[in-house]
Amino acid sequence: MNTQDLMNTAMLMVAGDKGLLAMDESTGTANKRFAALGIPQTEEARRTYREWIVTAPGLGDSIGGAILSDENIRQSLDDGTPFPKALANVGIVAGIKVDAGAKPMAGHPGEKITEGLDGLRERLADYVRLGAKFAKWRAVITIGPNIPSLGCLEANAHALARYAALCQEAGIVPIVEPEVLMDGDHSMERCFAVTEETLRTVFAALATQSVFLEGMVLKPNMVLPGLACPTQNSVDDVADATVACLLRTVPAAVPAIAFLSGGQSSELASARLNAMNLRHRGRMPWALTFSYARAIQQPALDIWHGDATHVAEAQKALVHRAACNRAARKGAYTDAMETA
Ligand code: G3H
Repeated sequence: MNTQDLMNTAMLMVAGDKGLLAMDESTGTANKRFAALGIPQTEEARRTYREWIVTAPGLGDSIGGAILSDENIRQSLDDGTPFPKALANVGIVAGIKVDAGAKPMAGHPGEKITEGLDGLRERLADYVRLGAKFAKWRAVITIGPNIPSLGCLEANAHALARYAALCQEAGIVPIVEPEVLMDGDHSMERCFAVTEETLRTVFAALATQSVFLEGMVLKPNMVLPGLACPTQNSVDDVADATVACLLRTVPAAVPAIAFLSGGQSSELASARLNAMNLRHRGRMPWALTFSYARAIQQPALDIWHGDATHVAEAQKALVHRAACNRAARKGAYTDAMETA
C-alpha cells in the first residue's frame, strides 16, 4: 500500500471545495428511474444519459470525482473516449461502485447485508486497469421497531472494513458508505442514536482491519427525521445534530466526509450541507462535502426525459445543482442561487 498515493487521491477528490457526483446506479435502479419518465430502459439509453452528464460544460468546476457503475466504466463516449478518460480530461477523478448490492440478511427480518467480497481483489485489479482511482461500497441500515440489531451493524461494518482494506491494498481510495435510511416515522433523535452507533461500529471494524484512515472517505447519511415523522426539524437543527454526531464518532485523521442525499430534495440537501459548513466551520477537522446522486441528477433527468433536444438544458440544470453544492461546501449557498 502506498499511503502517500492514497492520501493524494483522497485530497484530489475534494480539492478546490469540490464534491463528488454519484452516477453509479445499478442497471435496475437506472431502469426504474427511466421507466418513471417513459425513457427506454436500454444499455444505449443509459450510456447516452451518462455521456451528456460527463460532457456537461463546467461540470469539473464543482465535481472532483464521479462514481461509475460496472456497466459505465467499460463504456465510451460517441467519439470512442472511455468514460474514465473523459472524466480525467475535465479534471474529475473516476471511481467505481464495487459492492454487489444489499440483500436480505439471514436470521434478521427487515435487515440487509451488503454482498460482494468474493473475488473483490481480482475485480479491483481490473478496475485499476480501467482507470478507477477510488471505489464505493454501500451498507444499508434500516430503523424500525427493535432494529437495527447488533448483528446487522457488526456484519455490515465488517464487510465495509474488509472492502476498504482490499481497496487500499490495490491502491484505490475506499469510500465507506454506511447509510442509515430515511424511511420511517422515527424522530431525528432516533436517527442520531442509530447513526452514532453505526459509525462507532464501523470505525471499530476499520481499526480491526488496519484500514489507513488518512486514505479513505466516509459517506454517511445526515442526521434527519424519518420521511414520515410528523416533526420535520429545521435546516439548522439538522446541521447541528449531524455535525455533533460526526464529531463524536469520526476520527480527525479521515480527510473528508461526503454525504449521500438519501431521498432529500435537491434544495434541502444543499441548504443542510451549507448550514453545517456555515455554523461549524472552525470546529470540523475534515472537509465536509457531498457525494449526491438524486439531489444532483434528478432535476436534470426530469428535463431530459430521453429527448435529445433537451440535453443542453438538462446539462445546465445538472451543473447548476453541482455549483449550488460546491457553494454549500463553503457556506456560501443562498436561496437566491435557486432563482437566479
Ligand atoms: O449509494 C448511494 C448513492 O451513491 C447516493 O445516492 O444521493 O441518491 O442517496 P443518493
